[in-house]
Amino acid sequence: MYLVTGATGSVGRTAVDLLLAEGYKVVAVTRDPSRSELPGEAQVVAGDPSKPETLALNGVEAILLAPRTVRFATAELLSLAAAHGVGRVVVLSAATVEYPVGLPRFREHFRSVEADAKASGLEWTFLRSTDYAANTMAWAPQVRAGNVVRGAYGGAATSTVHERDVAAAAVRALVDPGHAGRSYVLTGSESLSQYDKVRLLGEAIGKDLTFVELPPEQVHEAMLAQGLPADVPERLLGSLADYAVQAGPTSHDVEKVLGRSALTFAQWAAEHAGAFRD
Ligand SMILES: NC(=O)c1ccc[n+]([C@@H]2O[C@H](COP(=O)([O-])OP(=O)(O)OC[C@H]3O[C@@H](n4cnc5c(N)ncnc54)[C@H](OP(=O)(O)O)[C@@H]3O)[C@@H](O)[C@H]2O)c1
Repeated sequence: MYLVTGATGSVGRTAVDLLLAEGYKVVAVTRDPSRSELPGEAQVVAGDPSKPETLALNGVEAILLAPRTVRFATAELLSLAAAHGVGRVVVLSAATVEYPVGLPRFREHFRSVEADAKASGLEWTFLRSTDYAANTMAWAPQVRAGNVVRGAYGGAATSTVHERDVAAAAVRALVDPGHAGRSYVLTGSESLSQYDKVRLLGEAIGKDLTFVELPPEQVHEAMLAQGLPADVPERLLGSLADYAVQAGPTSHDVEKVLGRSALTFAQWAAEHAGAFRD
């Protein structure tokens, strides 16, 4: 049985579906099962990974750990897991651990989660992903409303990873102990600027879309005015500023783990076109 934290997130939800499709038993953790819309075949548990005593760990073989959900409770959670006989943990870590960008405190969180996983005595696998394609959902309201996406650092380039590739790699690492002690850098296969991504989204929905660059300070103010917590623009703009100077990494680890090419951003855009149409 596999326990998935962040089970309602873009990666966690897909990992739940992929595990069930392969016939595995899944415990899916959410703070609010009534709103989660998780599949009935999963054992849906009301819990919060940042309060490890709320999790159901009996009979769990391996845990998929979403750092944002566990916050600063990784050591406590994994010590409890070890006491319940859990064997492995797979961490949804970030490429910034290996290829530093942005403000140090954001990568330090991923580093501390990894360090706690190593110290826990459980077998571990680290999936160090670049930005998920799902992050571009933040553009959907602008795309639905017009032909322009406004943001900072149009030239910032990353090999955005399709979250289904991250989920599929997570499933392999959860069920196959052969991935223990390994770190993988998960990216797409093609470095794309924000101008490129907006153009590809436009092609997917049949609209001529343009990315218009604004000063970072203006974008920062606008994000705060939307009610986003201060750490969101700090995290996003900090890494984009660095990716505008040097493109993010492109790795072949998705292919190594999955035995097929990484899914492309154009595929992601075609699959999610509905969310960008008015
Ligand atoms: N987005 C990226 O580009 C990126 C890149 C590298 C690594 N990561 C890591 O990948 C992980 C998975 O990302 P994701 O986008 O699939 O989902 P996520 O951000 O981890 O969120 C998944 C679910 O976790 C719960 N959650 C969110 N914040 C929480 C909090 N503070 N405390 C407790 N529960 C919380 C929410 O579910 P409920 O409300 O149902 O409980 C949410 O739907 C993240 O944890 C992140 O650290 C992300």
